[in-house]
Amino acid sequence: MISKETIDKIFDTARIDEVVGEFVNLKKRGVNLIGLCPFHNEKTPSFNVNPARNIYKCFGCGKGGTSVNFIIEHEHLSYPDALRYLAKKYNIEIEEEQISPELEILRDEKESMLLVNGFAQKYFSDTLINTEDGKAIGLTYFKERGFSRETIEKFQLGYSSDQWDAFTKHALKQEYKEEFLVKTGLTIKSERGLFDRFKGRVMFPIHNLAGRVIAFGGRILKKDEKTAKYLNSPESEVYHKSQVLYGIFFAKKAIVEKDNCFLTEGYTDVISLHQAGIENVVASSGTALTVEQIRLISRYTKNITVLYDADPAGIKASLRGIDMILEEGLNVKVVLFPQGEDPDSFSRSHSSSEVLEFLRSQSKDFMVFKTGLLLGEVANDPIAKAGLIRDVVESISKIPDAITRSVYIKQCSQMMEIDEQVLLNELNKSRKSSLKRIIPPSDVEELMPDIIGVPQPATHFDTESQEREIIRLLLNFGNEQIHFYDETEIPDSDGKKETVTHTYTVAGFITEELVRDELRIADLRYKFFFDESCALLSREAAITPEHFYKIENPEISSLAVELLSPKYFLSGNWNEMHKIIVPLEESNLRDAVEKAVYHLKNKMVMKMIDDNQHLLKEAYTNGEEYLHLLEYQKKLDEVKKQISKTLGIDVLR
Ligand code: CTP
Ligand code: MN
Repeated sequence: MISKETIDKIFDTARIDEVVGEFVNLKKRGVNLIGLCPFHNEKTPSFNVNPARNIYKCFGCGKGGTSVNFIIEHEHLSYPDALRYLAKKYNIEIEEEQISPELEILRDEKESMLLVNGFAQKYFSDTLINTEDGKAIGLTYFKERGFSRETIEKFQLGYSSDQWDAFTKHALKQEYKEEFLVKTGLTIKSERGLFDRFKGRVMFPIHNLAGRVIAFGGRILKKDEKTAKYLNSPESEVYHKSQVLYGIFFAKKAIVEKDNCFLTEGYTDVISLHQAGIENVVASSGTALTVEQIRLISRYTKNITVLYDADPAGIKASLRGIDMILEEGLNVKVVLFPQGEDPDSFSRSHSSSEVLEFLRSQSKDFMVFKTGLLLGEVANDPIAKAGLIRDVVESISKIPDAITRSVYIKQCSQMMEIDEQVLLNELNKSRKSSLKRIIPPSDVEELMPDIIGVPQPATHFDTESQEREIIRLLLNFGNEQIHFYDETEIPDSDGKKETVTHTYTVAGFITEELVRDELRIADLRYKFFFDESCALLSREAAITPEHFYKIENPEISSLAVELLSPKYFLSGNWNEMHKIIVPLEESNLRDAVEKAVYHLKNKMVMKMIDDNQHLLKEAYTNGEEYLHLLEYQKKLDEVKKQISKTLGIDVLR
């Protein structure tokens, strides 16, 4: 396999005009080059080469692509052989399968840092158990907190002695390099020399999924208001705080077994719950919960129970976290601890069975929790109640699954004594204005084999052309903004209904619409573009032509050129062209996008109607089934009518 670095280099070096120029006589035409197409017979040149975009396209036969595509097509070579061909042409050395030197250094560096951390952990544990200071100060402290010897060993807790550079000196003596001591943050380098970051603190090592130490949290022992209670290792090559959950290594097995994960705030919460026999527990370690942390949990379970302190800060943190968890498609429950208690203190003052019973009985579904929390305050205040309803609906709108959403809407309607339809209207608005993507990022490599050579079903309900138009808009205008204007359903504090503007990007709108109605793109090639765009959106990355040109599948990369190219060949410069094209289409962009989506929906409903009519014919003799299908038919007709209206199609036709 050719390394990614080499592939990138080939793509960046190979000039389309030079590559094509070897086989085709090219003449300058504006910023482009033009010649007779080598792929079909022609007398007048319609074969265009765009040096600025580094792509070619024949307007006669439709063939188009990158330098790599050209060589595959023209020389009848496989993808890797085409890469080799170009590498040879440009004297690029091919790295096969091995990683680049930069990566190798990085990998060594990471390994060195892990080794230093592992060494430090043993040193701190040894200090805790075997030195006078460690025993008198550190061990006494842990014992006072009720941590058993077993617990201390399991979590590899330690003590860093109260001297300026005891650890650093020892590590250097053992020939650990200063570079890695500093990079892990264990040692701080100043003008006055090297000293220990964690001097005089009890140590909580933080482990990665494989159980290796990637960082430390160090707790101060004195009640010193001036110094932070916990000091943590800095961000580093091996420790990305936002992606780490404290305790995940010790918890993952139990999380799978219990099919649930308790999420706490602190190191000691995790440790004390473990000691009480509850092992499916992790901590976000004082940072606001991140999407990465939620996704980490979702590898083991789809159920999270958030355990939070009952102070206002704790509650606020839980509300934010809940929405994020819902958005990732996970189920979330909440347990609030009594005022002044956290899971750690609670499990120390109660027996294991009491803790378990407390967690069981106090786990509240997020909606019950949220409404219960707020309903008391607003019961007699209609405006405040409206705000609360919007708030809860907003949370529900984050749930990707339509059925789960509708169950919650029903429940909410009962709890709040509000008409379900009003909630549904509000829900649809919330979902429209939320741009977050819903589909998990696709794995390019995994998708590849599926795309090649899979025949597409072709019926008269074939949605190919509708899908193509949607993807064309997505690729060309994905990052552009479009605006929708709506009247609010629930009056604001002045009792007025306002016009609200919903702004989203074209990509945001398209993905929302398709995902919300659970419309699947049938053509695997377009589906690939769609999934990739979702993945880019989720990373908050822009949708760029280059991203798709470089996809390692010739069919995809040349299709990308096809969908994107007409504009490029009007001018050589994408940015320039964009400035002209976008305002031109801008006024119609919203319509174009909306129409494209509705044309697809239209086709799909037509197919559903057709299917249903077949069933109706067959069910003619079965009365009950027949009525049922007839009912369904009515609904479909209604939907069809709505769509037709939106599209401005004559309904009677
Ligand atoms: N935290 C931190 N830095 C601080 C305070 C807190 O990194 N200065 C993180 C720690 O991971 C801590 C978590 O936030 O475990 C929760 O903070 P808090 O509730 O204040 O601490 P506890 O875990 O309750 O710690 P203790 O019981 O030791 O006071
Ligand atoms: Mn605590």
